[in-house]
Amino acid sequence: MRPNILAPSILSADFTHLGEEIAACETAGADWIHIDVMDGHFVPNLTMGPLVIEACRRATTLPLDVHLMIEKPENLLEAFASAGASRLTVHVETCPHLHRTLQQIKSLGVKAGVTLNPGTHTMTIEPVLHMVDLVLVMTVNPGFGAQSFLPEMLSKIADVRAMLDEIDSEAWLEVDGGVSEQTIPGLLAAGTDAFVAGNSVFKHPQGASAGVQALRRKIGR
Ligand code: DX5
Ligand code: ZN
Repeated sequence: MRPNILAPSILSADFTHLGEEIAACETAGADWIHIDVMDGHFVPNLTMGPLVIEACRRATTLPLDVHLMIEKPENLLEAFASAGASRLTVHVETCPHLHRTLQQIKSLGVKAGVTLNPGTHTMTIEPVLHMVDLVLVMTVNPGFGAQSFLPEMLSKIADVRAMLDEIDSEAWLEVDGGVSEQTIPGLLAAGTDAFVAGNSVFKHPQGASAGVQALRRKIGR
């Protein structure tokens, strides 16, 4: 079986020391770096764009897992790919032409992911499951770090795991929001194999390395 993935979200990092924060995660055993792109429209917060992706690309050799919480993502896919994104994940709620958008991501040579808000039904992603490299189930409403995990998402994760298994998909099943030492056991049992974590990594009392190591122990390799 392939190893589970730990993807620290730099949303909770200290941006005056972003390079060091990312390096600490890499050394401590992180697999991907998760980058939250927010536009102040789809979600009520404004964060990073291609410029920051490009800086992260120079700070690490780890894959950059870019989560696009933006309206009209199709307009910026090329910019994010050129900046060094390894994976681009779009929200089903922002993509009226979902197949076209995912094909566009793949044509840029980047892994394609789809994600859905807690209030969005799994049937909305069913038509594209065969063509994605990753499904991200949001376990908080996107926009901010350090929100409370929504436990009712566990059955949704199990449903998505069954849908992926049904078609023999090798896509990663990733979760994002409130991932911690406390919530990981339930998420593993539901079939998660890629874990995004912001607050529990970067706000760990002993720093990001200790945060990565603590979560790594729970997630396994
Ligand atoms: C939420 C973002 C998350 C966020 C997770 O909108 O998509 O990636 O950084 O943060 P934590 O792990 O603190 O809930
Ligand atoms: Zn995210």
